[in-house]
Amino acid sequence: QSGRRLCVAFLTVTSVPALGQASALDPAGAEASSIATLFWAMVVGGALLWLFVVSLMLYGIRRRRRVHDEWTAGRLIFWAGAVFPVVTLFLLLGYALWLMPQLRPWAPAQAAATLRIEVEGRQFWWRAVYHRPGDQPVVTANEIRLPVGERVEFTLTSSDVIHSFWIPPLGGKMDMIPGRTNRLSILATKPGTFRGPCAEFCGASHALMAFSAISMEPEAFRSWLAAEAGPARPQPSDGARLFVENGCGACHTIRGTAASGEVGPDLTHVGSRLMIGAGTLPNTEEAIARFIAEPDVVKPGSTMPPFRMLPETEIRAMAAYLKALQ
Ligand code: CUA
Repeated sequence: QSGRRLCVAFLTVTSVPALGQASALDPAGAEASSIATLFWAMVVGGALLWLFVVSLMLYGIRRRRRVHDEWTAGRLIFWAGAVFPVVTLFLLLGYALWLMPQLRPWAPAQAAATLRIEVEGRQFWWRAVYHRPGDQPVVTANEIRLPVGERVEFTLTSSDVIHSFWIPPLGGKMDMIPGRTNRLSILATKPGTFRGPCAEFCGASHALMAFSAISMEPEAFRSWLAAEAGPARPQPSDGARLFVENGCGACHTIRGTAASGEVGPDLTHVGSRLMIGAGTLPNTEEAIARFIAEPDVVKPGSTMPPFRMLPETEIRAMAAYLKALQ
């Protein structure tokens, strides 16, 4: 019984269906494919080497009384026990070194013509800014979409502690270091929805710092980005009024309204995202209401203050307002 419970708990922790698959061994991008190939080359190479050396050792133990010829024994140890492993390990090292520059095809001249996504890690969420050549930057948060078949340049920064950017099925990972800009290039080859976890311990809610990464057909991507670039068009409602009255706009931006805070995630089109709270809860009105009421419980260490002192109806009204921001 307890074993089964442990197993269920393990599966709950390791499977994250809502945010999409997160295996580096099921690649959907050029960089992740190289990494998966390298992984299997290392596993197979290492296993063969281990099997060979262990077989040789067992052979030596069984035959130890019968090998009187010291010259033969010495030759066996030299060639099979030293030269062969060294050559195999160097071949694996050479393969890895040859692969490494291919994982960073970063060329500033070429980058000027391509889509660049600036991602900033914050405790415990992600600010994303899309820079399209010759167009206004588009600010969003906690969801990263990219076109299939087009190379995207990521510039990675942090405003507080070290985080790490990783979309296992697409590419990465790369640390996000305060005061530094790191670069990463990703080419998605298949459409899909993936989970991007923070891969560097960064505080109490490190495990709750994730984003959805969605690779889309270029046409669909462009219409999504055009919609994302536009302002929100909220209807006047109790929720909209309460959002202003409770001072939410001091921390959050909703373009098209007076809310222009920079402390928390941009909420302009929050209703269209897959998850809320940086991969913490599904994007439903109930979940948004819960996050507003008790962010300190849902996401320990988050900078958002709890609003559990407000009447339930008011929290619900604000949640409905946010969910409608498509
Ligand atoms: Cu951010 Cu761990």
